[in-house]
Amino acid sequence: MCGIFGCVLKEGNAAPLIHSSLKRLEYRGYDSVGIATISEGKIFVKKDMGKIDEVDRIVDLDDMPGSIGIGHTRWATHGAPLKVNSHPHGDCKGEIMVVHNGIIENFLELRAELQNLEHTFVSKTDTEVIPHLIEQTLKNNPKLSLVEAILETLKRVEGSYALAVISTREPDKIICARNESPLVLGIDSNGVYCASDIPAFLPITNKAVMINNGELVILSAKGYEIKKICDSSPVVREPITIEWSPEMAVKQGYPHFMIKEIHEQPETIRNTLRMQDHYLDLLSTFLDRANEVFLVACGTSYHACLAASYMFSKLAFLPTYPVYASEFVEQHGKSVSIDSTILAVSQSGETADTIGSVTCAQQRAATILSLTNVIGSSLTRVSRVYIGTQAGPEIGVAATKTFTSQLSVLAQLALRLAKKRGKVSQDEIDCLEEQLARLPNTVETIVNTQEQKIKEIAKKYKDAKVFFFLGRGISTATAFEGRLKLMEIAYIPAIAFPAGESKHGPISLIEDGFPVVFICPRDETHRTVIGNIMEMKARGAHIIAVIEEGDEDIKSLADDYVEVPKGIPGVLSPIPFVVPLQLLAYYTALAKGCNPDMPRNLAKCVTVK
Ligand code: G6P
Repeated sequence: MCGIFGCVLKEGNAAPLIHSSLKRLEYRGYDSVGIATISEGKIFVKKDMGKIDEVDRIVDLDDMPGSIGIGHTRWATHGAPLKVNSHPHGDCKGEIMVVHNGIIENFLELRAELQNLEHTFVSKTDTEVIPHLIEQTLKNNPKLSLVEAILETLKRVEGSYALAVISTREPDKIICARNESPLVLGIDSNGVYCASDIPAFLPITNKAVMINNGELVILSAKGYEIKKICDSSPVVREPITIEWSPEMAVKQGYPHFMIKEIHEQPETIRNTLRMQDHYLDLLSTFLDRANEVFLVACGTSYHACLAASYMFSKLAFLPTYPVYASEFVEQHGKSVSIDSTILAVSQSGETADTIGSVTCAQQRAATILSLTNVIGSSLTRVSRVYIGTQAGPEIGVAATKTFTSQLSVLAQLALRLAKKRGKVSQDEIDCLEEQLARLPNTVETIVNTQEQKIKEIAKKYKDAKVFFFLGRGISTATAFEGRLKLMEIAYIPAIAFPAGESKHGPISLIEDGFPVVFICPRDETHRTVIGNIMEMKARGAHIIAVIEEGDEDIKSLADDYVEVPKGIPGVLSPIPFVVPLQLLAYYTALAKGCNPDMPRNLAKCVTVK
């Protein structure tokens, strides 16, 4: 999740404006920054790794000529956060510059093809194929205009993008395009702007034009011209007026980052499912060879590990041990050896206990694999192989979108491993892969259809003294995560147990009106869960059930229920089933007057043991 910005000004220098606009997009990533401007037919580029202010101190980003330019603030996905991987990226001759937010899925094939045609690549990014492909398209057919060459190029590119291109061939314009990654135009009397997000230009203008998937835009002194990428047909769209304050705009109109991030999940899961095959292959090869696998993490990331242990076992027949990172060294430190494999999971990649566990295991020659949202973090530096979760920066202290992204990667890994080990039939794998691909839409449906209802449930139970969260099998992990969310932001003591265990103690707490949240996917645990619901109900508990649409058996038992779409396989269920629980925590916090973005005593990244 990077930020892009571009402007064509009638008067004044583009660079200072790009610089200040990128600062307002820094929440989208801050691994590196770069600007390219065009003046008197020549391109000027400044870029480097680091936050915008750090880079500016060294290179003076404002000091660049030209009234047209593009800029980028990066959240590393392909390629470490180094200068060489910073955007803008150029073609062989440096005549075409591109900034890009998104993931080009077929970049390896395209790069190989272009390398065979003598193109030289300098970065490890997926983006760099775009300027080279435009260059090659123009070489093959020099009569094409820049727009035509870009349209041709985009037809060959698979994946997500919001991109902006400048070129010395047609130095009077910026061409930008969108597929799945956000892109919006700003319009005022002095120029036109393109950006990943409205806050980038909001202090300059509140007139915006939303760009849809599959559209290309030409920005010039004449204004903007939108075309469809598929057939170049023109699109007419008038600007709208944005009423947000700059503070609201950073949250895209949402009152809190947490709810914004909950709503972002269809997009972040979609991005995460675009995982490059070779990373999955590499990681699953290591897991396949491992004698013992520890899944090590803290907080929400630990819950992802707990769910993953069910996924690995059920799909790949691989036993794994989920361990709290804060306990790992005491519990397993001495027994870890060259035969051990550690898969560490961490949103930040900096959590002290996770890094401590990994360092201990590394000293004992174990293989270190990891999953993190921050490429370039300490965790990536100590890992033999790592995968990025592609969720983009998460600002709300309570992890939401990074949890579902972690689960999306872990599910893909488990499936890959299942394939490798031949443990599950091809039919079943195909079916699960299909279901996984549908999850972004499933999550979208949940958010769109259940949010209002959950708000009401939150109001109803906001004064409860304590909550229970129960699930069986993989839903135990979902229950644990639901409990953590509610506890950490709404300050309601909450207890989570595998539903079967609840009989061995916790049930003694139940009295009239005690809210018990049951996680009820329609998997092999369904029937037993009904039994557990009856036990609780018999003692006066109020049942709040998260069920599959049309689950009449549980509907008839529950006092309140939230529905998720039908047909979700149990092994993938934590991804959609956790979403209502995130919303429940959020709306309970609001109903109690708590600020969900800044829970007391907590930090987003815990760098002390
Ligand atoms: C803190 C955060 C949690 C997070 C945990 C682990 O407690 O508040 O949201 O789950 O750290 O962080 P990590 O970055 O390692 O996933």
